[in-house]
Amino acid sequence: MKIRVMLSFIPLFCFTLIASGAEPIVIRFSHVVAEQTPKGIGANRFQQLVEEKLTGRVKVEVFPRARLYNDDEVFIALLNGDVQLAAPSLSKFSTITKALELYDLPFLFNDLAAVERFQGGETGQRLLHALDDKGFKGLGYWPNGMRVISANKPLRSPADLQGLTLRIEPSKVIAEQYQFLGAIPVKLSFAHTRDALRRELVEGQENSWSNIYSQGFQTLQTNITETNHSFQGYMLITSKTFWNGLPADVRGELETILAQVTEEVKAQAAEQARQDRQAIIAAGKPKVIALTDEERGLWRQAMTPVWASFTPSIGPTVIAAAQAANAGSR
Ligand code: SIN
Repeated sequence: MKIRVMLSFIPLFCFTLIASGAEPIVIRFSHVVAEQTPKGIGANRFQQLVEEKLTGRVKVEVFPRARLYNDDEVFIALLNGDVQLAAPSLSKFSTITKALELYDLPFLFNDLAAVERFQGGETGQRLLHALDDKGFKGLGYWPNGMRVISANKPLRSPADLQGLTLRIEPSKVIAEQYQFLGAIPVKLSFAHTRDALRRELVEGQENSWSNIYSQGFQTLQTNITETNHSFQGYMLITSKTFWNGLPADVRGELETILAQVTEEVKAQAAEQARQDRQAIIAAGKPKVIALTDEERGLWRQAMTPVWASFTPSIGPTVIAAAQAANAGSR
């Protein structure tokens, strides 16, 4: 009799476990960079804080170095529910929306502090919604660094780019910017860039210091020119279906955690760039070419004509808001 009573409780017990959400919600976070970069560190920190604050309710799995998806594949993977979080480089949104092409305009921002001011302001926050009608939700921005150019020859002036094959992210702005200079831009995924440099399929590339250092690009190039010509950073995105389907308290806690991680990533990105640059310089190879103000002015002059093609679609007032954020930077 006792056994029969106990057995009759088993289905109820199982039902209660399921109904109380005993299985944790799994968030798979896919990204393409190394773990010791600002994005890699941010992703791992997010995982750690979720583990601490939402124990048993949410489990985060991080997949770095394009182990699951490349940046062009991750958008579909998010919509299909195969992953729940990604932070593609802003240049990778070019195929989805024109609004974010703003971030690729060369010599738009003076430094990371200017980018942060812009992103924290009204226009920057509005751009977080650029993908709302495509099924995505922008959760925040993470910075990496300013871009420099590495190559297998010294690039002191823009004319040195003539005829050079250069790996770029799949951005129309970046492609046109280099075409203007007589270079041959090659759109390639990040995961294939090292191999393309090693096999000399391309002669150079542009990236942040931390991406160059963590991928070992510097071991395959003879020179790096400190153009600091554009911003490389990320938009943290999820699918609207996933995000809106979360229990409200879990969603609220995740938002709090993301806000904390975002502040931490912002606080350490510039220092990470400084350290990785120093490590490359200390190794003595490749040669790092620092530009004088006058030389950098020539790069600016050569690259900024590309703005004209994209100003109508990005919007002059959006560009003006970004430029205004430079007040306070050098
Ligand atoms: C990234 O930082 O996520 C990748 C950048 C690149 O494709 O160069």
